[in-house]
Amino acid sequence: MANTVIIGAQWGDEGKGKIVDMLSAQSRVIVRFQGGNNAGHTIRVKGEETILHLIPSGILHEGKICLIGNGVVLDPEVFLREADHLKARGIDVSPARLGISKKAHLIMPYHKSLDKAREAKRAGHKIGTTGRGIGPCYEDKAARVGLRAGDLANPELVRQKVRHALLEKNVLLRELYKYDTLDEAAVCDELLQLAPRLIPYLTDVESRIHEAVNAGGDVLFEGAQGIHLDIDHGTYPFVTSSNTVAGNASAGSGVAPSRLDRIVGIVKAYTTRVGSGPFPTELLDDTGSYLRSNGHEFGATTGRPRRCGWLDAVILRETVRLNGLTDIALTKLDVLRNLPALRICVAYDCQERRFEYLPQEEGALERVTPVYEELPGFEEDISQCSSFADLPAAVQTYVRRIEELTGVKVSLISVGADRQQTIVR
Ligand code: GDP
Ligand code: IMO
Ligand code: MG
Repeated sequence: MANTVIIGAQWGDEGKGKIVDMLSAQSRVIVRFQGGNNAGHTIRVKGEETILHLIPSGILHEGKICLIGNGVVLDPEVFLREADHLKARGIDVSPARLGISKKAHLIMPYHKSLDKAREAKRAGHKIGTTGRGIGPCYEDKAARVGLRAGDLANPELVRQKVRHALLEKNVLLRELYKYDTLDEAAVCDELLQLAPRLIPYLTDVESRIHEAVNAGGDVLFEGAQGIHLDIDHGTYPFVTSSNTVAGNASAGSGVAPSRLDRIVGIVKAYTTRVGSGPFPTELLDDTGSYLRSNGHEFGATTGRPRRCGWLDAVILRETVRLNGLTDIALTKLDVLRNLPALRICVAYDCQERRFEYLPQEEGALERVTPVYEELPGFEEDISQCSSFADLPAAVQTYVRRIEELTGVKVSLISVGADRQQTIVR
């Protein structure tokens, strides 16, 4: 299948988990390379749903190696809870097939406190983070004061780093945010208590990927979030704190960029967004509510209702350009059923100017008016269709139009949440 990167083409929740699970059948190794448990990746197999926040979405396939790369920020407690949950269902989560990079940074309790405290203080202009400590953890990484998973084997180093961190964080929490401070000994003891369970998972992720690639490859890199949440290329400041672009599969896991063969963008057949930030095609009317209820658009991590709107080809063209997409996997097409007409945004108008690409100035996207193209809707139930030819003419037209507007082939079409409900073209 070649070494493949999976990325979310919009603002997250495109159905990456489903597609990664499906493609895992033909892969040897599955790797998460950025983000943390801000992600919620849903897989459904024969009606049984699994939501993964940290462990790669290949884990349901027996024998596949699942690795958490250096680019991920890892909450130790969440990792162990997720592993326990899977184990209770009879899934092998032993270190023989699940590994964590020693270079991955650890999310600490003070990261979560700071995340929540800052959001609370940003009244009126919240980012709408997941509150999982993601941003503050990446801040410490960049500031070169973070704890890394490999440090767990060195209790003295853990205590030293926590002491240093709390010297600063407790002042912020107490003085600026009027928030509870954290006790140094308690933070260290809690983490070191988990260490014996985590240490067996620590591994040299780069070497394991390198070996797999050299032995014939088929490594799958599982992106989290979406391209327009990228810290550099997204709708800053309403973004997450990591690079979500496919290029980060390399930096975030240690694989050489020349080893990546295929970049698949997961495109939801309409658009959703959780949290604040510009969303030109957002629908605040009945159609938006219809998409939310028909698509069950409620966050897999926080349960928040997702904002919904029409498909935006301007956003997608930018995604194609930033990632060099080789293919598109189009998901949730079934959700569009029974809408009288379908709309795709093909450009933006802003102050007498027409934009085919995203304007780059902060705040500019808030002021654009989408230019829509209208296509016929469909009433048929497509959830059991198993080939492109089975799809009603209107659906085929919609898919082909997406290919024209993006210049990328739609090679997978998802017509339902279950693993089986996927059309391979
Ligand atoms: P991810 O974060 O990109 O992995 O996506 P999420 O799991 O957060 O959200 C996608 C949701 O859509 C999940 O509840 C999936 O089970 C569901 N889903 C995925 N593909 C399809 C599809 O083709 N049709 C429908 N109806 N649901 C889907
Ligand atoms: P998956 O992998 C959708 C959003 C949050 C918020 C912003 C910053 O399931 O697609 P953060 O906690 O990362 O600092 O929050 O990013 N966000 C997501 N939205 N899907 C996700 O992940 C997301 N991860 C973060 O809602 O707007
Ligand atoms: Mg999700």
